Amino acid sequence: MTLPDLLVQCTQMLQSSSVSLGQGTLEMADEAAWLVLWQLGLPLDTDTDLHTETLQPEQVRACLDLVRQRIDRRLPAAYLTREAWLQGVDFYVDERCIVPRSLIAEVLAQGSIDHFLNQAPQRILDLCTGNGSLAVLAAMAYPDAHIDASDISADALAVALINGQRHGMSQRIDWHCVAGLEAPLGQYDVILCNPPYVNDQSMGLLPPEFVAEPHLALSGGPDGMNFVRHMLSRATQHLMENGILVLEIGHERVHFDAAFPTLAPIGLSTSAGDDQVLLINKEELRTLSC
Ligand SMILES: C[S@@+](CC[C@H](N)C(=O)[O-])C[C@H]1O[C@@H](n2cnc3c(N)ncnc32)[C@H](O)[C@@H]1O
Repeated sequence: MTLPDLLVQCTQMLQSSSVSLGQGTLEMADEAAWLVLWQLGLPLDTDTDLHTETLQPEQVRACLDLVRQRIDRRLPAAYLTREAWLQGVDFYVDERCIVPRSLIAEVLAQGSIDHFLNQAPQRILDLCTGNGSLAVLAAMAYPDAHIDASDISADALAVALINGQRHGMSQRIDWHCVAGLEAPLGQYDVILCNPPYVNDQSMGLLPPEFVAEPHLALSGGPDGMNFVRHMLSRATQHLMENGILVLEIGHERVHFDAAFPTLAPIGLSTSAGDDQVLLINKEELRTLSC
């Protein structure tokens, strides 16, 4: 069997199963390619059509076994491969953190926040850093900035530390085990935050792959806004005068608007639309306390 044939077979296996996607891929063919290429030790951008040679039977067996595990165990592919990719950057992943997929990564890669800043940011906070992917991507996007990254979960921070080291960012990122937006966190030009924001009703409907991720990382309470409420009540104290907050809220825009009806955030454009990542400046945040 050749690699293209194997990919067709693995895609068909996934298509006829009940696996859920959304933790790194959106198509069954991409999920199959991720698993198979990883198992064969080939780069993810391999031109698979060029691999016309016959694979060894044990290679085929190992790939089929991995895809079978993905189907039977309903675990995210990243928990099986211990690796995930975001904006072309590889991150170590395990069950201690969610699989990196934040839309804020796109915002960083596109430089979408740059024209809201007076100058290149010097101090950036990645609040709720989890696996540390946004902290690493922010450090790459803004080479002159120092990054603080915080999370309540010591387990997640242990993964983040691995990712900081993997990308040579140990000198540029300080990791803090802190609940919410509290001291010792300081003042920042930019606060990035992909918080737990899934509302209770949606939590109850999550497919097994997402239930496998830490509950703490996803659950945002009845309307998904528990953490966001806490954070917005304190954000002005932690922003420099011209500072901005970049907040991911996913599909919770209706709940966000209901919770903060007077706030006028700016929706940043991402592949998921204009209302899943919001930009709020310090001046706008001040209106919350008026
Ligand atoms: C949606 S995950 C985001 C992880 C990472 N930033 C990303 O984009 O992949 C949310 C993170 O918030 C953390 N978290 C939950 N409650 C928190 C709290 N009260 N204070 C600080 N971090 C919290 C979780 O441990 C989890 O790592």
